[in-house]
Amino acid sequence: MRKFSIKGVDIFKQWIVTSALPYANGEMHIGHIRSTYLPADIFTRFLKLKGIRAYHVCGTDEHGTPILARALREKKSPKEITDYYHSLILHALNGALIHFDIFSRTTISNHEKLTQWFYAEAKKAGYIYKKEVKILYCEVDKIALPDRLVKGTCPFCGAPDQYGDYCEVCGRTYNAFQLKDPKCSICGATPVVKYSKHAFFNLSAFTDKLSKWVKEKLKLTKGAREHVLHWIKDGLRDWDITRDISWGVPVPDIPDQVFYVWWDAPIGYITFTSELFNKIGERWEDIWIDGTGKITHFIGKDIIYHHVLFWPAMLMSVGFTLPDEIRVRGFATLEGKKMSKSRGLYISLEEFINMWPAEYLRFYWSSSTTESLNDGDFSLREFEERINKLLIGVLGNFINRVLILIRKGKISRGVIDQNILSRILNLKKTFLEKVEDNQLDIGIKVILEMADIGNKYLSQNEPWKDLKSTKASDTLVTTFAIVYTILPLLAPYLPESTIKLSKMLGLDEYQVGTFLDITPSEEIIADKITLFREKGFTKPLFQKISKQDMDNLRKKLGL
Ligand code: 2FM
Ligand code: ZN
Repeated sequence: MRKFSIKGVDIFKQWIVTSALPYANGEMHIGHIRSTYLPADIFTRFLKLKGIRAYHVCGTDEHGTPILARALREKKSPKEITDYYHSLILHALNGALIHFDIFSRTTISNHEKLTQWFYAEAKKAGYIYKKEVKILYCEVDKIALPDRLVKGTCPFCGAPDQYGDYCEVCGRTYNAFQLKDPKCSICGATPVVKYSKHAFFNLSAFTDKLSKWVKEKLKLTKGAREHVLHWIKDGLRDWDITRDISWGVPVPDIPDQVFYVWWDAPIGYITFTSELFNKIGERWEDIWIDGTGKITHFIGKDIIYHHVLFWPAMLMSVGFTLPDEIRVRGFATLEGKKMSKSRGLYISLEEFINMWPAEYLRFYWSSSTTESLNDGDFSLREFEERINKLLIGVLGNFINRVLILIRKGKISRGVIDQNILSRILNLKKTFLEKVEDNQLDIGIKVILEMADIGNKYLSQNEPWKDLKSTKASDTLVTTFAIVYTILPLLAPYLPESTIKLSKMLGLDEYQVGTFLDITPSEEIIADKITLFREKGFTKPLFQKISKQDMDNLRKKLGL
């Protein structure tokens, strides 16, 4: 891998960070950002802060049977559905301060071309073969029905109106051909059994290569690796990569078929990189073919198989670069239960942002989510506590106290307590290591610990008792140095508050990153205090969550 160097430190030239592409057929709720978009956003912001040319790449996944089925049900075109949800999803994610360097769509023409190219290359290399499969086909909707789109009578217990894969009454699983009296769940017509020749991707041919790569090269979330190695041991099955529907990327050599959505979707990571790089005058081939950069995928735990096995095998089949890291996180519940719109136990991302600053949700999830397959809960009580006691009580309060006292005492210079400073600098080192290694929750804990040290130091030294004393100056200069150390570390997590804080300190926001490398000396801190007193101001960074707000939300959720 080619590297280049900044300030004598080798860093990767470019770093592509991707978030799994959301299907363009539903809105975002507060749990959706937990596993993927928020960690990817924090990570990209962190890399950028370090001076790395990192890009957050994403877009909507706009193909697949569920989108077509929804369009048929609602008597709309799939394009109408995806247009609507593309904007809705992007709006909600932007509202949550998730920044994308590109947020595109899998329906753009470049994507179709690259998807077909992948197929042609994989075929040339001998990894594609055709095989006849048995399908249930609705002649009214002109669509091959996957199990979930067929309903009928359970072959075991006789319960009516069950899906084609699983009976919700007796709990048994079966396949759609076993259902008695099957019906198309879109139009109610009886589907016919058809035989159709599909293209298959020879995933099993990559077994050894995948196994070696997963064991030796890939940085993968703990827990996910064990699953993957288990799947490999059980034997990888080839994937049926074409479908008898009209919505999707056409398969060049099979009339009336399109690619299975999982064949085209991950290729979106490349198409979108190329769309972005064309705009900024860079070569996407550097990353995806020559491997001169880094690639990190962020995903939820339901799509590990697709990203750790299927997608890398696709890349291997055409000789492209494999990802360096795949970071996986679990799902979110609300008050310990699965979110459900129909039962009212549901908070959409838009709703949240209309109630509170998006940063409260960012703080909640990032401080409580480990890089693991564990699920996480949005608990109202815990949310209130984390925001009021930690974000505001510890961090906001610390910054506020320091700034107000400095202004009030007209402090200009003093001696930094080296004991405190070295503890803070050690914590900063931990921060940089852990966040780079994707332990994003530890990053925020470190920030809180710094603020806690600062708060305790203030309480011990009580500078307010005699603001004219040398001791007060020294204490406040020391704590001001802590504020300056915290400032850039906060930027990936709470980008809006970081801008507010930099304005309060009299800085331009773009200067924040420059403080990442600085060790605060007495000279620097004295300069910054002057700047703050001349150009800055004080104002609380955060507003507490009121009991009233919480009560209203509880009522709305029926709790
Ligand atoms: O599971 C999903 O929501 C898919 N739309 C994710 C696709 S990620 C990628 F591979 F494109
Ligand atoms: Zn039908």
